[in-house]
Amino acid sequence: METRIRPVKTLHGEVRVPGDKSISHRAVMLGALAHGETEIENFLFGEDCLSTVRLARALGVKVILEEGRVVVQSEGMDALREPEDVLDAGNSGTTMRLMAGILAGCPFFSVITGDASLRRRPMGRVIKPLAAMGARITGRCGNSCAPLAIRGGGLRAIEYASPVASAQVKSAVLLAGLFCEGRTVVIEPTRSRDHTERLLRHLGARVETEGERVAVWGRPNLRGAKIAVPGDISSAMFFLVAGLIVPEAEVILPGVGVNPTRTGALDILKQMGADIVLTNEREISGEPVADIRARSSRLAGTEIGGDIIPYLIDEIPVLAVAAALAEGETVVRDAGELRHKETDRIAAVVDVLGKMGVNIEERADGFVIRGGRKLRGGVCDSRGDHRMAMAAAVAGLVAEGETVIQGAECVNISYPAFFDTLSYISVK
Ligand code: S3P
Repeated sequence: METRIRPVKTLHGEVRVPGDKSISHRAVMLGALAHGETEIENFLFGEDCLSTVRLARALGVKVILEEGRVVVQSEGMDALREPEDVLDAGNSGTTMRLMAGILAGCPFFSVITGDASLRRRPMGRVIKPLAAMGARITGRCGNSCAPLAIRGGGLRAIEYASPVASAQVKSAVLLAGLFCEGRTVVIEPTRSRDHTERLLRHLGARVETEGERVAVWGRPNLRGAKIAVPGDISSAMFFLVAGLIVPEAEVILPGVGVNPTRTGALDILKQMGADIVLTNEREISGEPVADIRARSSRLAGTEIGGDIIPYLIDEIPVLAVAAALAEGETVVRDAGELRHKETDRIAAVVDVLGKMGVNIEERADGFVIRGGRKLRGGVCDSRGDHRMAMAAAVAGLVAEGETVIQGAECVNISYPAFFDTLSYISVK
């Protein structure tokens, strides 16, 4: 599907972004491990999270999808049963890696695969620690890619020093740790997003965090509970950046998750001179939430690198759009992980923005943008990557002429109503 974006006069309005993708996945998975009923409000009905629902059902868990909410009914982690067929995680790295942790703990055989993009992504990073815990797990390409074949059960707790700051790796080990006796520990080079830890506590597990070190105690008595999912800050960020770069715009986003392990892009945008205000800060289901307002701003280039990278990794494509409109140079470094996302997002950003007339130079671990040039519309290949399609659409709002986004249906992965919402707040 192709979608055409034309420049807008301005943007005005309130957008309730859909539920957080990372938290929606975890709510279903932990609901599947808990005894009783877990009621999830504001669940993200995007393709990735529906992959997690499909897998939970294949393991014998009852998952009821209703308008705006999901109910998970389970008899606990020992009630999961061997799937009859190959499990398909679709495009979702979170589904595959976190489910690998759960499957490693279960005393049965399973095979998990995904689409062509997911089958190219690195899985050795979860195979290694799960094998060290005692799971028999193998994969394609010398145990580094899916499909993965897993014979789980009989795990022992380990202390694992992860070479990457990855919430998916950390969560896979912590979830496998639930099936072990005693304490499982993960130590990361930099702390990654901590939604698994927060939700585990919410459902009754013992989890302790100290800096980059997280410990979970095995065989917890997890109990189903109500989980309200905050709005997804990664989705909100497309509208925030749009509100900053379009003249005389004001965009208000109520109920967005502002977990400090996810708000790196807000810090960077403020550093660039953005008029962004957070109000009504509160907590729901153990996660911080706020209303966010963005207004048109004069932006200046900045440096993005070091320990902040895991806190904004998914926002780099849209931050690059902000940088393209900012005065001066923006350098993104230490972001080599971007090459392992749904597509190689360094190459994709350089290609899409380069074709729109941005002065951008590729580096091994990031890129350099010399901002301030007028953008021009053109044909953008989303490469099937939802965040690339949405970032290109935001750039198209301020480009000369029409921007054609190829493969635009990939927004269904995380934000099915994205284009309708964008058009709803656009003043043409
Ligand atoms: C996610 C973790 C991050 C992020 C991804 C979602 C999660 O990936 O990029 O979109 O839900 O745990 P890594 O764990 O690979 O850093």
